[in-house]
Amino acid sequence: MFPEGARQSRERISRSLRLGICGVRPVWKFVQISDPHFAAQTDGCGNNLLIHSKMPEIVACLRRDLQALNPEFLLVTGDLAAYESRDAVYAARDMLDSLGVRYYPIGGNQDFQGPRARAWFIEAYHDHLPTPDTVYSFTHQNLHVAVLDPWWRWEDGSLCPHREDVKPAYRWSIPPHQFDWLREDLARNPVTPTVVALHYPVVPLPGRLKWDRMLEPESLENGQILREFLAMFPQVIAVMAGHAHMHYAVQDSHLVHVVTGALAEYPIEYRVIDVHDDRLEIATKGLSDETFAAHSLTPNGAGAAGHECDRNLVIPFRQSSAMTA
Ligand SMILES: [Fe+2]
Repeated sequence: MFPEGARQSRERISRSLRLGICGVRPVWKFVQISDPHFAAQTDGCGNNLLIHSKMPEIVACLRRDLQALNPEFLLVTGDLAAYESRDAVYAARDMLDSLGVRYYPIGGNQDFQGPRARAWFIEAYHDHLPTPDTVYSFTHQNLHVAVLDPWWRWEDGSLCPHREDVKPAYRWSIPPHQFDWLREDLARNPVTPTVVALHYPVVPLPGRLKWDRMLEPESLENGQILREFLAMFPQVIAVMAGHAHMHYAVQDSHLVHVVTGALAEYPIEYRVIDVHDDRLEIATKGLSDETFAAHSLTPNGAGAAGHECDRNLVIPFRQSSAMTA
């Protein structure tokens, strides 16, 4: 329909607009939210109150705030539903759909408990997953994102995708085949700046953020092994996680671990990630309606918001990864 010259001209104009007239890519943004615990029947109590019953109003406020921010996508790092059932998976999916922004869902310990959980997840989120799997990756503009799905460590030491009937003190671990998958995925994308995303923090909560009688969040059982693995891939600049219901950030050798608090619990905030040509700039934002956070806060729980260094940070791309077009 179009002559070849006209097609090439349109592509050149499109690329110029995308990269800017000086070859500098315009800043774009995405948002990380975590642990919304949709579809809960009751409120709960962690280090602060889990105000599950307010989630419809919180989502309505977040929808308005996101319209003003206009992110290109949301990264939702787990515990999408508060309990496991097929209805809860779909209720959570409908709430996320109502935000009106493209999103990538990641399962957490509340989502992936029983043997049928991942099938429900893939069925419900089919339109949002790049491939019909809970382990996947995608590239958006100049950023690659690789999503992992840790398994449950049973009492006998075996590693299984679902938990046992009676819950002992569980840990979670990346199974060996996902290391293989990640190695191949990173080898296919050797220079694109990359974020690894999963539900569980890879690094423990820093001592500077602990307080007496707090509910201390768990981290990945083989987190140290994953840290040493990621150190071999300079294009990996950040790991983004949830689960802790607290904000914290930890600098590793050449990447930063960004752990984001729960949307259902104080401080009820999310991360806005501005993606530049040479860096990520991460800012932590609360809802425009501050009454939700005030309602959730308990006398001892203010530490869940983290320190300034946990809330606003700049993550530079390494030289080799900043050169990708
Ligand atoms: Fe959670």
